[in-house]
Amino acid sequence: MKKVLFAPVILAASLAANGVLAAEPAKPAGVPPEMQQMMKVYTPEMRQKVMALSPELKATIVQLHAGHPRRAKETTLRQIMLEILSEYQTIAMAISMDNPEAASDAARRLAGHRIPKGGLLPYFPLNQVNDADLGVLPAMNTAVEGSALKLAEAADAGDMPRAASYLSDIMTGCVACHAKFRSATPGVSANLITAPTK
Ligand code: HEC
Repeated sequence: MKKVLFAPVILAASLAANGVLAAEPAKPAGVPPEMQQMMKVYTPEMRQKVMALSPELKATIVQLHAGHPRRAKETTLRQIMLEILSEYQTIAMAISMDNPEAASDAARRLAGHRIPKGGLLPYFPLNQVNDADLGVLPAMNTAVEGSALKLAEAADAGDMPRAASYLSDIMTGCVACHAKFRSATPGVSANLITAPTK
């Protein structure tokens, strides 16, 4: 009886010792703790890509995420993108209605959008998770969220013409990031022979 019980235990112990059963990979050296938390839900391929990033870029990613304390448990980037679009539209409505309070609130919500499950990186194409491609993220962040905060300040100061001028700066940032990281036209159908070429 004892033998039957112990055999699997011994087997498991020896497998674990050999690293075969390692359910959680060893804590990767040089990865900031905040990032290790996100990496828990990554596939091995994704994890490898992130570990290969330079210390500087890892620090940049941590910094970008730190600016967004609202963390989603299960929400995807696409879901958050539509929330962001909705905030953008609310800003346009508020400016059109000469309503600085609503404009400023929506702009701050946009700038403080939630971070999707696993952070931003898993939603980018795997072959773009590298130093060169991700290096543009701070510039995108400045265009979108920096401009949204400027818009909020202008609205707070009652300067609606100036607030309005930041709408295009924000959208320029949206478009730039999509051009780089959004792999296909949203909703493109595999059943069309004349699908959009992008
Ligand atoms: C950091 C890069 C980045 C920025 C900045 C960005 N997006 Fe996106 N967006 C993406 C990516 C990547 C996707 C594709 C996500 C996917 O399909 O999983 C996407 C998808 C979308 C979609 C399509 C969602 C769907 O259902 O397919 C909308 C709408 C959208 N973004 C709106 C916006 C708006 C509005 C802004 C600016 C206020 C913005 N995005 C800024 C990266 C960005």
